[in-house]
Amino acid sequence: MTATPPTATIPTTASLRRYGALLGRYLAPQAGAAAVLAVLLLVGIGLQLLVPQVLRRFIDTATGVAAGTLAEGAAGAGAALVGLAGVFLAVALGTQLLGGAATVLGAAVGWTATNLLRRDLLEHCLALDMTFHSARTSGEMIERIDGDVTALSDFFAQFAVRVIGGLLLLVGILVVLWFENAWIGLALTVFTLLEIAVMAALRDVAVPATTREREAAARVFGFVEERLTGIQDVRANGGGAHALHRFIHTMRTFFHDVRRAWMARSVVWLSSYGLFVLGMLVTIGSSIQLVMAGAITLGTAYMVFQYLIMLQSPIEQITQQMQLLQRAGASVGRVDELLRERSRLTVVDGEHARRLPDGPLEVRFEGVTFRYHDAEPDADPNLQGIDLIVPAGHHLGLLGRTGSGKTTLTRLLFRFYDPLEGSVRLGGVDAREVPLPELRRRVGLVTQEVQLFQASVRDNLSFFDDTVPDERLIGALHEVGLGAWFDGLPQGLDTPVRAGGASLSAGEAQLLALARVFLADPGLVLLDEPSSRLDPVTEQRLERALERLLRGRTAVIIAHRLETVERVDAVAIMSDARLIEHGPRAVLAADPHSRYARLRRVALGLADGDEELLEELA
Ligand SMILES: Nc1ncnc2c1ncn2[C@@H]1O[C@H](COP(=O)(O)OP(=O)(O)OP(=O)(O)O)[C@@H](O)[C@H]1O
Ligand SMILES: [Mg+2]
Repeated sequence: MTATPPTATIPTTASLRRYGALLGRYLAPQAGAAAVLAVLLLVGIGLQLLVPQVLRRFIDTATGVAAGTLAEGAAGAGAALVGLAGVFLAVALGTQLLGGAATVLGAAVGWTATNLLRRDLLEHCLALDMTFHSARTSGEMIERIDGDVTALSDFFAQFAVRVIGGLLLLVGILVVLWFENAWIGLALTVFTLLEIAVMAALRDVAVPATTREREAAARVFGFVEERLTGIQDVRANGGGAHALHRFIHTMRTFFHDVRRAWMARSVVWLSSYGLFVLGMLVTIGSSIQLVMAGAITLGTAYMVFQYLIMLQSPIEQITQQMQLLQRAGASVGRVDELLRERSRLTVVDGEHARRLPDGPLEVRFEGVTFRYHDAEPDADPNLQGIDLIVPAGHHLGLLGRTGSGKTTLTRLLFRFYDPLEGSVRLGGVDAREVPLPELRRRVGLVTQEVQLFQASVRDNLSFFDDTVPDERLIGALHEVGLGAWFDGLPQGLDTPVRAGGASLSAGEAQLLALARVFLADPGLVLLDEPSSRLDPVTEQRLERALERLLRGRTAVIIAHRLETVERVDAVAIMSDARLIEHGPRAVLAADPHSRYARLRRVALGLADGDEELLEELA
């Protein structure tokens, strides 16, 4: 299965059809709220259309009084004027109230819809394989899941209210004007169409610049996140000044991209405004002519002018929304790209899915070759021709120099990746045929880097599953040798753990991760250097705990220190992506020529450094 490279090009023209599809999918559950919104909009627009009519009546009545041409006389006209003023006030107030209500409801609809989208995106990203994730920093993912969607949410929230409402108002105004005077109607219709045509032509002008702007934002987030995560290393290596320098550089590019995007968007806005001023000149000029010729009253001329002013707001709002549409267009493109990103792991479900047998799982690698960078066929494989069997319930110790591929082997067992060639079988079943949740429930993994969450000890142990009884959690802590540590906690299981495990030592964090795995009761346990961060006393405690915990389960234990694998059933040694030795531990230990026996003699100080062996293994 081929996947898009991480730097897939982003479409510059996000088509309206895609907005439509997204809008439809995420707004459908809120049809009720949308209907209320529509009613609010329609009533509001009706009221707005009424205002100039009231003004015309007012002006014509007032000029009539001045000219003394009214039938009812000045006193009656005065009462009528007061009445009209009252109507004007009521209508104006009503318009404002309805507009406010529509904005509030529109925002609620928009946020509800985009929160659904955020959830879907997060779920989607969590299901993607590690190739996808290792190509991106966390900061970039935050920007893509939240930043892009927030841009979309502004769009969802306001687009309906502003653009649809604006369009309706526009049409309403033009209809009224047509009824009033066909020439005026025609002139303003042509003007409006022209303006909209110009806007449509300019719609995508700013999308490329805006896409670059958002990408630059993602880079800034990614940069800051990475430096903060590695703050200790940055400080320890005196990299502070360099990091700051890089930061300033990143910010400078960001600033340039923001400015360019803003200017591109301004072109759209300024064109709209210029055109509008032109339309105003023409309309006022022709109105003056018509009044002078006696074709329309002064009130009508004022009404036309008023309608023209009113045209400005929907056209401006539509233009403004075009900017949002452009930002949303860039975001829709990126969201869409993210949603189309497919995991490289073949997923099986339904009738083809197979279950893993209960109890300990047999592990079988058959001719497995794997490469992290499978896009580069010339790159050296990170695993090559691996054939390996660990019978159910047996424990395998995996040795080999750093970078030889030990961790990679466990990653394939946990299906962070799938092999390029050959197959990995668990309990006789090809791992690719087992649904991922089932596989990950039956395989426990403790890695070199333990991830703890900003939550209580309880949640960190149970992974936020509150159905696990406290006794089991405490039992597991005692079993891995954290009993004394637990007894010292001020609030027991409710004691908070800082994110990243800052309040635990590395060894404690590793033991906690171990307890976490055994609570899940897996059939296969993968331990990646379980004791590398422990002091000798804790390590012995861990040894004893492991012996108890691994009983009746299959295990693959990676170790640099030979003491860690003194009690395993079999030993495998890796070198340069290959398995160079594999056999029962007792047999290998007894064979003085085996690499394991030679390594052991050196490591345990039973022999002087074996130059040839060190050459081969180190
Ligand atoms: N996520 C990754 N992307 C690309 N290459 C990787 C990745 N992880 C590891 N590698 C490469 O694969 C090779 C094997 O790495 P692996 O982590 O399996 O070694 P290891 O035997 O576990 O080493 P160590 O004893 O230091 O943990 C190394 O050359 C490493 O550079
Ligand atoms: Mg490793």
